[in-house]
Amino acid sequence: MRIFNSIHSLRGAIKILKSRKKRIGFVPTMGALHRGHGSLFLRSRRENDITVVSIFVNPKQFGLREDFDAYPRPEKSDILLAKKEMVDIIFYPSENEMYRTGFLTSVQVDTISQILCGKSRPGHFRGVTTVVNKLLNIVAPDVLYLGQKDTQQAVLIKRMIADLNIPVTVRICPIVRERDGLALSSRNCYLSARQRLEAPILYRALQNAKQKALEGEHRSLHLGRFIRSTIARQSSGKIDYIACVDADTLAPLRRLRGKIMIALAVKFGKTRLIDNIVFSL
Ligand code: PAF
Repeated sequence: MRIFNSIHSLRGAIKILKSRKKRIGFVPTMGALHRGHGSLFLRSRRENDITVVSIFVNPKQFGLREDFDAYPRPEKSDILLAKKEMVDIIFYPSENEMYRTGFLTSVQVDTISQILCGKSRPGHFRGVTTVVNKLLNIVAPDVLYLGQKDTQQAVLIKRMIADLNIPVTVRICPIVRERDGLALSSRNCYLSARQRLEAPILYRALQNAKQKALEGEHRSLHLGRFIRSTIARQSSGKIDYIACVDADTLAPLRRLRGKIMIALAVKFGKTRLIDNIVFSL
């Protein structure tokens, strides 16, 4: 496995690989790698000749009162995990390498970046699309792998890629969960023992709501109320949002139909967890 810190040297290596007609899969991450990331690496390895992983805690996607400074940066164990997963290249740039003095540009996907998570995290998705755009320009992969857990991020990045004609295929990979249903996230390590016990209620509530929908309850309002009361009764979680939307466009649905996503964000203390479930009617 090779580790690059500079854009220039990574580009040199990519150029050689491309001249050898190697197909490149790319997984962007902020590190604190876990089995969820591992599933993306595995898929990329299966489908490509070379897997490139970036590790960069992107300051531009954190709000003023968010956890940028506290965000876990376990460099050694990340590199060990990437090695174990047989990643070929790690791109590990510094903040200065990514955002040189005088950096002024941002990439924003309008409207759908301002709903759901975008409402309580203003500017977050602009930071995400800006850095992913830069990373795609640097790595120039054939295929980009993203996780379904960050579903709004995935929809926005797909929109950006289509709108800006970026020549890359996007693959969205399923959520990886703990045995009790909690979706894997680098932020789960912030949960106290009690919050960790309570947190699986998010997925149970989503599953039960899906079941209700399959049995005929198609009113979003009622499903939302059902999820809200389940979470409130069984945990200390404070709900940020619960939304029933079209899974491809994120358009809100008053009545469920087609390919549906029920998505939510809930705060346990200072830790904000997101989860979602996708199904068709
Ligand atoms: O999902 C993440 O870890 C980040 O938002 C991403 C896509 C690596 C951009 O910083």
